[in-house]
Amino acid sequence: MMSPRTGPAPSTAADCLPVDPPAWVYMLRCADGSLYSGWTNDLARRLHAHNGGSHGARYTRAHGGGTLAYALRCTGKSDAMHRETALKKLSKAEKEALAATWAKENTITIRLAAPEDAETINGLYCWYVDHSTATYQYGHPTVDETRADLCLALEKAAFVVAVDGAGNLAGYACAHPWHTREAFSWDAETTVYCDPHRLSLGVGRRLYTAVLEILKAKGYWNAIALVADPNPPSAAFHKALGFTRYGREPRTGYKFGRWLGLDYWVLPLQEGTGAPAPVHYDLPPEELEAILRRANGEN
Ligand SMILES: CC(C)(COP(=O)(O)OP(=O)(O)OC[C@H]1O[C@@H](n2cnc3c(N)ncnc32)[C@H](O)[C@@H]1OP(=O)(O)O)[C@@H](O)C(=O)NCCC(=O)NCCS
Repeated sequence: MMSPRTGPAPSTAADCLPVDPPAWVYMLRCADGSLYSGWTNDLARRLHAHNGGSHGARYTRAHGGGTLAYALRCTGKSDAMHRETALKKLSKAEKEALAATWAKENTITIRLAAPEDAETINGLYCWYVDHSTATYQYGHPTVDETRADLCLALEKAAFVVAVDGAGNLAGYACAHPWHTREAFSWDAETTVYCDPHRLSLGVGRRLYTAVLEILKAKGYWNAIALVADPNPPSAAFHKALGFTRYGREPRTGYKFGRWLGLDYWVLPLQEGTGAPAPVHYDLPPEELEAILRRANGEN
């Protein structure tokens, strides 16, 4: 087959599919056991505000902050406001029932990815291809390509998924060998994508922590993340997970009608400067299980 005479055409602003403006209705379980209801267009920021940040509600300040007990992504501000009004009219017993159902459906389990997950993982990744500059890919990978990529990551580094109580994919994180040249054998490139309807609920942290633990146990020395710039949530996330930004390319990707940058975030996984032991791709199953148990808060 002849190779094409030109590279890909640049993607334009019109190629970016619109994202519904975020709006949430939610309940918080306060320290004294009571439930607070509200709506917000930034769940992460609002939770932070309720727990000691600025502009929290008087109620949560007086009742000791709170943890998320219910959250529903709405179709917009007015939908969220209507649902908040309806929520506030519920009896305590009805709110408790709602919170119990939500907790059951949103109990997230972290497990190793399997080849059968390729289709849902592909679906989640393609959402970001179409809607976001978090990835610099223009076109959709096929499910077969995703499966091959998944199997390579599982064999050589790590691939974990987060699933909810109904078995739906809430996110995934993976790591691949950074480079084929031998001297790079102790470096892995990490990445993570969460369901856009479940951001800021701690899923990314649990996924990434499991991947980083697996890499460390296998004997990798560095986790390296290439993060689009701008991508403030991902930059904040990598910082929160202990990564340091070591480098920045200011104008290295073109997507949706604009030039973007690329940041190099690195997390050392081992101490010292001596010669490293070879990475061992096969972890003893009990070691893997212990990492996954920790990711699921079981020990
Ligand atoms: C980046 C991403 C994986 C984070 O996952 P998440 O589940 O939303 O994040 P978590 O709730 O686990 O947050 C962990 C920490 O990251 C930081 N963080 C996450 N989202 C943030 C945001 N929107 N703003 C500021 N900080 C944020 C916080 O410091 C948070 O700290 P905490 O644990 O004390 O609350 C998620 O936003 C995502 O999937 N984004 C789209 C895809 C993407 O950009 N992937 C990265 C490609 S390199």
